[in-house]
Amino acid sequence: MTAQKNIPRHVAIIMDGNGRWAKKRLMPRIAGHSAGAETVRKVIQSCIDKKIEVLTLFAFSSENWKRPEKEVSRLMDLFSIVLTRDSKKLDKQNARLKVIGDRSAFSLKLQDKIAAAENLTKNNSGLTVVVAANYGGRWDILNAARQLARRAASGEIDSSDIEYEMLESGLTLHEYPDPDLFIRTGGEKRISNFLLWQLAYTELYFTETLWPEFKEAEFNEALDYFAGRQRRFGRTSEQVEQDQ
Ligand code: IPE
Ligand code: IPE
Ligand code: MG
Repeated sequence: MTAQKNIPRHVAIIMDGNGRWAKKRLMPRIAGHSAGAETVRKVIQSCIDKKIEVLTLFAFSSENWKRPEKEVSRLMDLFSIVLTRDSKKLDKQNARLKVIGDRSAFSLKLQDKIAAAENLTKNNSGLTVVVAANYGGRWDILNAARQLARRAASGEIDSSDIEYEMLESGLTLHEYPDPDLFIRTGGEKRISNFLLWQLAYTELYFTETLWPEFKEAEFNEALDYFAGRQRRFGRTSEQVEQDQ
């Protein structure tokens, strides 16, 4: 049974395994990505039902441009279709969409669609769905570092006064709590340049299940795993228990 207490505020997911799912069925890789989009819809609904505050989904990494041109262009088409089809639904669900990553590499049409979807949903107060597209954790930190360097160069701040919070305020997710639970489907146990800074104390859950086959029961398993963890943030168990 799923524990009702100890629900994470922020869940971050690397949705991996679409290509292998399609290959197993002798289908083109893009069919796996389309099937993966269905899983996204279901996971969003589960997050709303469970009153999770933020769901961050890794949709396209800054390294995924290295894939065959055809796959990349079909992924862009799919992103565009999903934005049109699902932003109205997200709005009805009182959910907010936010896209993180370097969107300047996308076509102007896609950039407009992203902005329109964000705009449509910006005043909603329920779940925030963050889509990481052309995102890289190193890019995120580099951007924040550049902002600090500019402020230091202009004399606004002194480099010796730079605190963690100041760097953090330049990161894309600065307005949200760090992810409490990270899930990666598809069997690989790596971060693949996802949220590097923000995952410092996140509970990590890896599963062999391919993303298109990731169902609510398995999401519940991941949440149960999370509920069973003791988060110590460097302290001892005894200290944590005393505080409870
Ligand atoms: C993840 O699935 C989706 C994207 C990276 C866009 P993959 O396409 O990486 O699936 P596998 O790892 O090849 O099975
Ligand atoms: C990570 O998956 C990126 C996304 C899911 C969008 P990859 O399939 O690109 O990761 P690697 O290449 O196996 O590390
Ligand atoms: Mg993969």
